[in-house]
Amino acid sequence: MSEATARAHPNIAFIKYWGNSNQDLRLPANSSLSMNLAGLQSETKVRFDSELSEDQFILNDQNQSGEALKRLVTFLDIVRAKASLDDRATVASHNNFPAGAGIASSASAFAALALAGSKAAGLDLDEKALSLLARRGSGSASRSIPPGFVEFHAAEKDEDSFSISIAPPDHWALIDCIAVVSEEHKKTGSTGGHLLADTSPFQITRVAGADERLKQCKQALLERDFEAFAEVVELDSNLMHAVMMSSQPPLLYWQPSTLDIVQHIRQWRSEGLAACSTIDAGPNVHVICIEEDSTEVATRLEEIPGVINVLTAKPGGPAELIN
Ligand code: DP6
Repeated sequence: MSEATARAHPNIAFIKYWGNSNQDLRLPANSSLSMNLAGLQSETKVRFDSELSEDQFILNDQNQSGEALKRLVTFLDIVRAKASLDDRATVASHNNFPAGAGIASSASAFAALALAGSKAAGLDLDEKALSLLARRGSGSASRSIPPGFVEFHAAEKDEDSFSISIAPPDHWALIDCIAVVSEEHKKTGSTGGHLLADTSPFQITRVAGADERLKQCKQALLERDFEAFAEVVELDSNLMHAVMMSSQPPLLYWQPSTLDIVQHIRQWRSEGLAACSTIDAGPNVHVICIEEDSTEVATRLEEIPGVINVLTAKPGGPAELIN
């Protein structure tokens, strides 16, 4: 019997990952760029036990079955194959952010699981190997392994598609103010959405320009140029949603209040507030702003009709083992 516990943060993508070039290996169609979210985390304990006949998965104190368990078993099978191990495992995981907050938990969940699972299986993986492994569970989980601001490389080969930190958490005091407008569970999650990406006539164009946008975003980040950063972040999010909306069947994640927030942010920016918006596979809006403006931005967001609450997060550190 051997066990390990790890914790990891979710992340918000400034340049989005949408669509896979290889579904089984979760090789992304384009490279992406993100920031880990401090304060929000998944904490996961993995225990391999020769006495167990099946893997068990307890999430937030609830026993999991069906699709959630299947996805976990598929991932543990990859870990077992790497470690030449046959034992089944008990996995107990807790998220400290509400399930309905519209923050994807798959990134922090699979990053923490990759670290705790590989360690419990007797493997000692470095950051690159961990990020390759986490990617197999959830593409964006690859980005929750390294610290701070992170680039996830798209590549044709499994061993070339991993994430690296391009700047530490303290490089730039950005805040993600997450405006929650719905706590409902989305109908089509990211895994189903990636499968539809190629049915949109715009996916080819989005992917073709992704490297250039990533370059611009990275430069703006490294130079702390908020104006340039804001323009490319909003453009990239709009391009992904154009693909989503024009897929067959279409994926329409926005609610009326989603668009209302996006328009307010553009107005506030023109008035001098350093804030921009980006939206994932759901109706909630991630408003990225500089720390000095974040209290003002959060207060104003709370006043917009339809906003249920606003969560805030600073740039976060890497996935870590907990003793
Ligand atoms: C819209 O990593 O959640 O958040 O690999 O199927 O788990 P799976 O997908 P996931 O996709 C992320 C999609 C996104 C954009 C992003 O985070 O880059």
